[in-house]
Amino acid sequence: MEIALHIDSATLARYDRVRALRFDGDQLALLDQRRLPARTDWLSMRDHREVGQAITDLVVRGAPAIGIAAAYGLVLAARAGARLPIEERRAAFLAAAAHLRAARPTAVNLMWAIDRLLARCGADPEPDAVEAEARAIDAEDLAANYRMARLGAAYLAEGSGVLTHCNTGSLATAGLGTALGVIRAGWAAGRIRQVHAGETRPWLQGARLTAWELLEDGIPARLIADGAGAWLLAQGQTQWVIVGADRICANGDVANKIGTLSLAVAARQFGARTMVVAPASTVDLNTPDGSAIHIEERDPRELLEYAGQRVAAPGVEAWNPVFDVTPAALVDVIVTEKGVIEKPDAAKMGLVFG
Ligand code: MRU
Repeated sequence: MEIALHIDSATLARYDRVRALRFDGDQLALLDQRRLPARTDWLSMRDHREVGQAITDLVVRGAPAIGIAAAYGLVLAARAGARLPIEERRAAFLAAAAHLRAARPTAVNLMWAIDRLLARCGADPEPDAVEAEARAIDAEDLAANYRMARLGAAYLAEGSGVLTHCNTGSLATAGLGTALGVIRAGWAAGRIRQVHAGETRPWLQGARLTAWELLEDGIPARLIADGAGAWLLAQGQTQWVIVGADRICANGDVANKIGTLSLAVAARQFGARTMVVAPASTVDLNTPDGSAIHIEERDPRELLEYAGQRVAAPGVEAWNPVFDVTPAALVDVIVTEKGVIEKPDAAKMGLVFG
């Protein structure tokens, strides 16, 4: 049975002030997430290539946000090709889609958004139609987050301690956030006593982005080193690990930011529960299980250096996978806007998404 927390949208919106992207028809403005929280610089993207590079470089990041950015990138491509004959226009649009699709490999929202635009507008990429579809993707993501926030927060008992990882907030989505949306709703409803955020090495999405978003909203957050997660859960004061996802497979396995797996293992060991919050655009029934996911590996310098300065011992090598896969068996509940799945498995996933 589905239970949603009663909380009106105006109250929730008070905790939803940050935006990662703005589209004005001719350009996509992106809040440069590499510089936050020290600087709030907006960068202007004028063509799909700039958008693709911004996704690769993590100017914009977070699974839903990169799907939305790619959708607006395709609007820019459609506008650039608007005067070409139809065959050339179509070919240019397809090429732009292929370029954007390659920007990052793990978050399926990127491919999902591109496929949706190709399916609806690929035959005739008329710019206004492409823009309408991109704006629909953006608006639907925001609506999904408001719904998931209420569904997920209904699981939180009064006085809960929660631990989140990476950044799943307004910066990672169209607004409010997925896991962070649940935390915002839980806080607004007075159900949360303490929020902990893992720093999320090496890119520090937790320390730089999640902590900033929560403090902007007046929600006190306590930062922990990633390695402190298990010890925090062992204290018994944290009832929920609440995270987002980059891809949820047909059997309920979840790819998310590196470090999620360790938290889910520790939560199970110490009697806490793991909640994964993600829109249906993150669910990929074509990926049977986690072994089929392409896990992005980024430049080892992200580990070997800190703020551009080498800190690791000279000569040492590094391995830098930036996502991991949490098996479905370690996930207590998946919250999506289409429904909530407790103890996920292939049959339950098929019922909701098949
Ligand atoms: O490398 P990132 O910052 O794009 O990774 C982001 C995450 O892993 C998030 O948890 C996930 O995309 C969900 S965002 C709502």
